[in-house]
Amino acid sequence: MARHAHYIDGEWIDAEETFESKNPATGESLGSFPRGTESDVAAAVDAAESASEEWRGLSYIDRAEHLWDVYTELKEGTDELGELVTRECGKEINEGRADIVEAAHMVEWAAGNARHPHGDVVPSEIPAKDAYMRRKPRGVVGCITPWNFPIAIPFWHMAVALVEGNTVVWKPAEQTPKCAHAIAELMVDAGIPEGVFNMVQGYGDAGAAIVDHDAVDTVLFTGSAEVGHGIADTVGGTPGKLAACEMGGKNAVVVTDEADLDIAVPSAVLSAFKTTGQRCVSAERLIVHTDVYDEFKARFVEAAEAVAVGDPLDEGTFMGPLIEAEHREKVISYNDLAREEGVDVLVDRADLDDEEIPDGHDAGHWIGPFVYETEYDPDLRCIHEEVFGPHVALIEYEGGVERAVELQNATPYGLAGSIISEDYRQINYYRDHAELGLAYGNLPCIGAEVQLPFGGVKKSGNGYPSAREIIEAVTERTAWTLNNAEDIQLAQGLSAELKTDDE
Ligand code: UN1
Repeated sequence: MARHAHYIDGEWIDAEETFESKNPATGESLGSFPRGTESDVAAAVDAAESASEEWRGLSYIDRAEHLWDVYTELKEGTDELGELVTRECGKEINEGRADIVEAAHMVEWAAGNARHPHGDVVPSEIPAKDAYMRRKPRGVVGCITPWNFPIAIPFWHMAVALVEGNTVVWKPAEQTPKCAHAIAELMVDAGIPEGVFNMVQGYGDAGAAIVDHDAVDTVLFTGSAEVGHGIADTVGGTPGKLAACEMGGKNAVVVTDEADLDIAVPSAVLSAFKTTGQRCVSAERLIVHTDVYDEFKARFVEAAEAVAVGDPLDEGTFMGPLIEAEHREKVISYNDLAREEGVDVLVDRADLDDEEIPDGHDAGHWIGPFVYETEYDPDLRCIHEEVFGPHVALIEYEGGVERAVELQNATPYGLAGSIISEDYRQINYYRDHAELGLAYGNLPCIGAEVQLPFGGVKKSGNGYPSAREIIEAVTERTAWTLNNAEDIQLAQGLSAELKTDDE
């Protein structure tokens, strides 16, 4: 069985304790990986601190050169790495490849941005003053990433952080360590200097050691709300430290009385079932106007009965397995909870028929769509809590778009959502009133691009640890003002005269 190591201070470091990665579709072992400890994290943070001065001393453009090498490898390796993603996290192969494409886009954005202006020239009240904004790296950036985008999200965190002059200590998800290992190999091949990029494999205790370490200046986290809120709490209490966290949502697609159902149905299917519902942006609520409800319901149910669940390496598959057995138990428990809460179940493919499970895949964590309808009720847990699986509620509404938006907003989360309508007034109302970080019109609520900010409001996140806006989390701004005159003049009419008792 292939054995892998941490990557700390330019060296591959072994560990005593190891854990295994398994293909969620077959149960096959993909190798053993070192389980990181607090002392591994401490060594990685020390290395990152020591490497910081030299790395931040390079020009943006020199730092970005390394990332261009990573970009080329991602482009050339898209098929191979995409297959690795599919084998390790179970997303079907088109999504496996898209993960690499998204990673390449992020690296391209970060490296390309090195040649773009970085800040603003700002006018001053005083003609002789030049004022402008400069950015500096924060220092050591700790990155904690999830398994559902095992190549893309690490680059969301690390590409900009590195180009901006930070050094990095990264703890990848324990479910996808082989993808993480592949990233570390790309970084090594690109000649990133020793200590600038460090990877400690392992579980939540290694992640917590990063969060708790005094020398980590920024923590970037993408993952569950529970862990993210804990991190924001811990880091928020430490002066000088910053956390940017992106968590999940209880996302919704709104289908109004003016919707084109040929757009509404595929948007709902893609939002609910792509990645087997395991995207932070996946929709678990479909809020549908009473005038189109019956037809939408019939067509959506038909689609949910038909989506192809199966071998994720097969191009004909729409939904692969869930990531792991415990996660399958969680999704099933939410299906059970919905039933206990009295909903009407429309589709239940949670236990697939034997013939639906591909040969040699009995050990996979298989699940199919679970669809139900319910009246809106603020006390129902199943329509307020994130499941992270193919578990979706149809909620009928009457009245104007205002009511649909009220229901859309009736969760503690605010990550992604979409509205399907041919009426621009409805769309504009939704745009202005839906409490969301990512909002779409006449599209599924998945598929954000890296050149836009990515992140949520309310319980879904803060600080945007991803895509374009991450720059704020990994840099410090200096508002720099230089006087070109031979005397001192102050803004706001402030006197610069030094008054003494003698006068
Ligand atoms: C996630 O859901 O965890 O918007 C990330 C999208 C992707 C990223 C999703 N670009 O679907």
